[in-house]
Amino acid sequence: PDRILSGIQPTGVLHIGNYFGAVKNWVDLQNSNHDVLCAIVDLHSMTLPYDPQKLPQHILLMAASLISCGIDPEKSILFLQSEVPQHTQLCWILSTCTTLRRLAQLPQYSEKSEYLEKPLLGLLWYPVLQAADILVYKATRIPVGKDQVQHLQLANALVRTFNLKYGETFPHSKPIFNPNNAARIRSLIDPTKKMSKSFPDPNSRIDITDPPDLIASKLKLANLESTLSIVYDPQTRPGVSNLIEMHSALTGRQISEVCQEFKDFDIERYRETVTEVMVETLRPIQSEVDRLLNNKEYIISALKKGTQKATDIAADTWRSVTEKTGNHLIK
Ligand code: TYM
Repeated sequence: PDRILSGIQPTGVLHIGNYFGAVKNWVDLQNSNHDVLCAIVDLHSMTLPYDPQKLPQHILLMAASLISCGIDPEKSILFLQSEVPQHTQLCWILSTCTTLRRLAQLPQYSEKSEYLEKPLLGLLWYPVLQAADILVYKATRIPVGKDQVQHLQLANALVRTFNLKYGETFPHSKPIFNPNNAARIRSLIDPTKKMSKSFPDPNSRIDITDPPDLIASKLKLANLESTLSIVYDPQTRPGVSNLIEMHSALTGRQISEVCQEFKDFDIERYRETVTEVMVETLRPIQSEVDRLLNNKEYIISALKKGTQKATDIAADTWRSVTEKTGNHLIK
């Protein structure tokens, strides 16, 4: 059976791009009885400037958000990456299976370092750690947004190289994307870019914890081109198309169905319709986040249990890796 793994950085709050692009799929897979691991990848979030004082709070909020979105810590393994040392150990071994040149070619490195005066080594290395996250559990299906495709290709290239060098050890993995075309939700302000936590303007994204009036004001500011009608054409009308994709993801209905039903609406009325659906969908998630944040002990104990289960699997893999790579003499 497939083992499913995904990761999310505890930077700020979950936005609806993360929710539709990734988390909702994790929940659906969990609820159809798949074996799911969800990593809060705190080590990855250190590759861009961050505040260590705030990190614990961000981890707590991310765990609360994931549970509120439907991740059940009794069914899935919800854990903290930095507490499972085999991730960084395997990351080192994998970094001897690729080249500097290959890493420097990955688009996320150049996109993220564009804003930085001194991009860190960790930013370049980021995808190798991501590959280790996957390989250390021998995961085979990875539910992610479309922005992660190149990282998953690198992970598979590392599988190939490792297996050639040391013998068949790791399985290849495949991505799973959101079926409602929401695998790449775009920025509300500049719909040619993806919605992102690291983009400075908070009006460019909707966080799952945004209260109703803030959701309304952000959607009011959303760039919808000067369109009058509800036309789905991501190339020439990325803003309206983004709104339609969000609507489709919110309701679980096909893009064509949504367009058909609302074809007589003017754009302002349509904007209000989507706002209402968004507010109503996020309302129960938000009250669950509030409730959980009042019960920190529960979240921490859930994370600890998940981290223990993850460590048991990762330790097994690490043992077999050291046997193959010749580091096992004193084991
Ligand atoms: P992160 O935290 O940046 O994003 C978490 C997930 O959200 C998806 N996503 C989006 N999907 C649709 N539209 C968007 N605008 C959008 N923005 C983000 C991302 O594709 C991701 O699935 N590198 C990963 C974290 C990671 C990981 C892993 C993922 C670390 N190790 C192992 C899978 C397997 C990331 O960027 O997370």
